[in-house]
Amino acid sequence: MKRFLPKSFYNPISFAGTTISVVSFAVIVFLVVLEMFEKSRNPYMGVIAFLILPGALFFGVAIIFLGMFLEHRRRRRSASDSRRYLRIDLNDAHHRSVFMFFAVLTVFLLMFSAFGAYQAYEYTETVQFCGEVCHKVMKPEYTAYMYSPHARVTCAECHVGSGADWYVKSKLSGAYQVYSVLFNKYTRPIETPVRSLRPAQQTCEQCHWPKYFYTEKKIEKTYFLPDEKNTEWWITLLMKIGGGNTESGPTSGIHWHMNIRNKITYVAIDSQRQVIPWVQSVGPDGKVVTYKVNDGSFTNDQLAKGEKRLMDCIDCHNRPTHIYRPPNQSVNEAMKLGWIDTRLPFVKAISVDALSQHYATGDGAKDSIGIYVREQYAEQYPQIARTKKADIDSAIAQLQKIYSRNFFPEMRVSWKKYPNNIGHLYDPGCFRCHDGKHVSDDGKILSKDCNTCHVILAQDLNDKLRLSLQGVEYRHPVDIGDAWKEMNCSDCHRGQ
Ligand code: HEC
Ligand code: HEC
Ligand code: HEC
Ligand code: HEC
Ligand code: HEC
Ligand code: HEC
Repeated sequence: MKRFLPKSFYNPISFAGTTISVVSFAVIVFLVVLEMFEKSRNPYMGVIAFLILPGALFFGVAIIFLGMFLEHRRRRRSASDSRRYLRIDLNDAHHRSVFMFFAVLTVFLLMFSAFGAYQAYEYTETVQFCGEVCHKVMKPEYTAYMYSPHARVTCAECHVGSGADWYVKSKLSGAYQVYSVLFNKYTRPIETPVRSLRPAQQTCEQCHWPKYFYTEKKIEKTYFLPDEKNTEWWITLLMKIGGGNTESGPTSGIHWHMNIRNKITYVAIDSQRQVIPWVQSVGPDGKVVTYKVNDGSFTNDQLAKGEKRLMDCIDCHNRPTHIYRPPNQSVNEAMKLGWIDTRLPFVKAISVDALSQHYATGDGAKDSIGIYVREQYAEQYPQIARTKKADIDSAIAQLQKIYSRNFFPEMRVSWKKYPNNIGHLYDPGCFRCHDGKHVSDDGKILSKDCNTCHVILAQDLNDKLRLSLQGVEYRHPVDIGDAWKEMNCSDCHRGQ
């Protein structure tokens, strides 16, 4: 029988290659079809269909050619065939049909690879690929992201952005990440700040451009004190976030001062950029003002070695989506929403304590939180434990939920490991620079005045409402004298 394909094709190596290619191809087609009908997508399916199998397919094709090359050489050596190169004679009908066969196959394979490469590109940019494939490692970032204002923005829109150069960079660092996961080399928690993060102008500003910051934003916060009555206390702040648009009138506000008018550079002497003894601002007229802490708490050597950085969005908004909340904040929110019954005596204090304990695993924490809260009530308030059992149970369910979204003991992730730079209550945040200790050469102090960044419109404590559009004087919810003026809020509140 006359064989259709060139003689050199008929050898065991090329047969093996053909089998690998054909099987891979068939499985890819099968998986792609399956994906179309499947409602819930399995993250590993993409890895197999778009990354591993196409690799196998091309490996198979390479093996076919290798087999053909070896076979051709063997035949030439044994002198059964003296031709050195392939001879194609399109006048020969058989040659013509083989040529057509290869031409069609090549075009088909090229189209298939283009389609596959595009699918692979799309797939490696999906939230599923970034957040779910290395489930154990990415669980904290992914979980926090799912419950954040950016839950519908893909990981890649902030971490990669547009353009081929950053795509390639991200895949190179991705390759290292795969290695570190496979060989268990990654740090727990994953280090922050991310030093190779793409500049915010090229990511955040694709959606939030500074021109569109104007007016103010009202923020209301409700707190519950850790006493028997869970005393409620609230404050209304008018955040001065405006100032982005010079064309629509006078400008002022946080984004204007910090991001548009002035270029601000700082030096941080710790790896998490929390200790900032030196700041410099360059105004639009080129005027340079340098602010320094002069209390001897750091050396010139530390300053010279510190990281120097031009301030951008991330220096304030470092947790736009991976937000790990402190227990006080989460419990206040749950109580405000009525998810934890505020009439349950001491529930604020006990809840915060329960969430602040050390637990070894996330699953273990679930049970332990229940045991802890029930024990506290049974030991200290047996009457309440008996009469309010249902309320206690539903509070426990809320606390378990809060814990699972904010604490990840397996990765050692919690709010304490990832300071949030917006605000100043639980972390130093704005007070890293605005602590009243940063002074310029001519004596200007970086303001800590409570009405610089926001106006305290109203405050209510024990039903004594105070209200003023100019801003009321702050009152701390419990009497601590003037400590809140002299110290940073986080000096006390970070401990909680
Ligand atoms: C709104 C933009 C945004 C989105 C969307 C986003 N991230 Fe991030 N992510 C950040 C920023 C900003 C940081 C850096 C924080 C820093 O450097 O202090 C970060 C940090 C990280 C870190 C380092 C650890 C940490 O928490 O600092 C990991 C890991 C990470 N992101 C993974 C993801 C994954 C996975 C997704 C998608 C499920 C995602 N990110 C989506 C903005 C984003
Ligand atoms: C693909 C578009 C997109 C990108 C990129 C993006 N954001 Fe957002 N951002 C949004 C959307 C949508 C919202 C929700 C808007 C709303 O709630 O009105 C939002 C909300 C916010 C908010 C308000 C959150 C709140 O609590 O209400 C902040 C702050 C913010 N983004 C900062 C950032 C920062 C910093 C980055 C870069 C690391 C970034 N965003 C990147 C689309 C984006
Ligand atoms: C000096 C610190 C600082 C810098 C730098 C900064 N912001 Fe903000 N931004 C704030 C504060 C404070 C708020 C108001 C508090 C809040 O919403 O939690 C805010 C609010 C926002 C909001 C919500 C606005 C709204 O109407 O709800 C967005 C979006 C935002 N910033 C994006 C950005 C982007 C993008 C950049 C970089 C170009 C940036 N910010 C730079 C401090 C900063
Ligand atoms: C890295 C240091 C640094 C951090 C952190 C920082 N600032 Fe500033 N801020 C400055 C400097 C420097 C100036 C003064 C600019 C100038 O010379 O006019 C300033 C000025 C301001 C002003 C104008 C003050 C005035 O007197 O009119 C506002 C408002 C402001 N910052 C808000 C914030 C907010 C809100 C945060 C936290 C989210 C913050 N800043 C965090 C360095 C910082
Ligand atoms: C450099 C700017 C700046 C200064 C100065 C400042 N604040 Fe704030 N403050 C903020 C920002 C930013 C937030 C965060 C708003 C948010 O959570 O969205 C905040 C939040 C708060 C909150 C709510 C805290 C929370 O997270 O629940 C209180 C209370 C508060 N400030 C009181 C004060 C008092 C009292 C002073 C004066 C000692 C002061 N602030 C000075 C920027 C400032
Ligand atoms: C000397 C330590 C100290 C300083 C400094 C301090 N606080 Fe407090 N704060 C306390 C104590 C003690 C309580 C009582 C509640 C508790 O123990 O949690 C409290 C309670 C609060 C609460 C209600 C509790 C919550 O988180 O639900 C708020 C809000 C608060 N402080 C805001 C501030 C602000 C804003 C500043 C800075 C301007 C500040 N505190 C500075 C010690 C301090």
